[in-house]
Amino acid sequence: MSNRTQDAIRKWNRAAKSLDLGNRGEHLRYGPFKRELFGKAEGRTLLVAAGTGLDFKYLPAHIEVTAIDFSPVMLSYAERRMGESAAPLELVQADVTELEFEDESFDTVLTSCTFCSVPDAVKGLKQLRRVLRGPGRLLMFEHVRPRLPYLGLMMDLMNPLVRLIGPEINRRTADNVRAAGFRLTREYNVFLDMVKLFEAEKG
Ligand SMILES: C[S@@+](CC[C@H](N)C(=O)[O-])C[C@H]1O[C@@H](n2cnc3c(N)ncnc32)[C@H](O)[C@@H]1O
Repeated sequence: MSNRTQDAIRKWNRAAKSLDLGNRGEHLRYGPFKRELFGKAEGRTLLVAAGTGLDFKYLPAHIEVTAIDFSPVMLSYAERRMGESAAPLELVQADVTELEFEDESFDTVLTSCTFCSVPDAVKGLKQLRRVLRGPGRLLMFEHVRPRLPYLGLMMDLMNPLVRLIGPEINRRTADNVRAAGFRLTREYNVFLDMVKLFEAEKG
């Protein structure tokens, strides 16, 4: 495991205790969007990344879910929320950039504020493309770098500080999804052009 990954795991282990506090308002505001997006999942589904499990309540009963996170502390919190999932759910400690699942082992991948946090986003997205089968479905709820010039520049300036304790706020996730070989089929603005839903296929 690289030093960069080890540092990132330590950062998210430290963040686990306060994540719910910061995220509670977001979930009240964005919960309905996540519920609708996750409702489109089919079959064997990979959820990246579990965090403290705040997303489990949006998982529909008709799917079977493997939720991963590389932070053991996040997973210890998530374990307490497993009962909130209507779907059968297992938790696995794994780095999305080094997945050990076989090729084409999932029908759907769900992400939720994930690719603002994964250190090497394109490497992680390429792994997701590898483990998806058939046309595959990548359903993402993500916050990204806004295209509005002043706001985008502000995020670039703030990012070096923010990333020390949390996610990156200037990720170009649509570009990263395409760079990993996916075909982007939907990009929907939930809040300005900063919080978005993406849908993509293996292409
Ligand atoms: C901002 S939190 C979001 C958690 C949760 N999805 C939510 O919305 O409440 C980002 C999560 O991504 C996880 N993460 C970051 N990089 C990862 C990687 N390479 N592999 C697996 N999990 C990762 C962190 O441990 C953290 O739990």
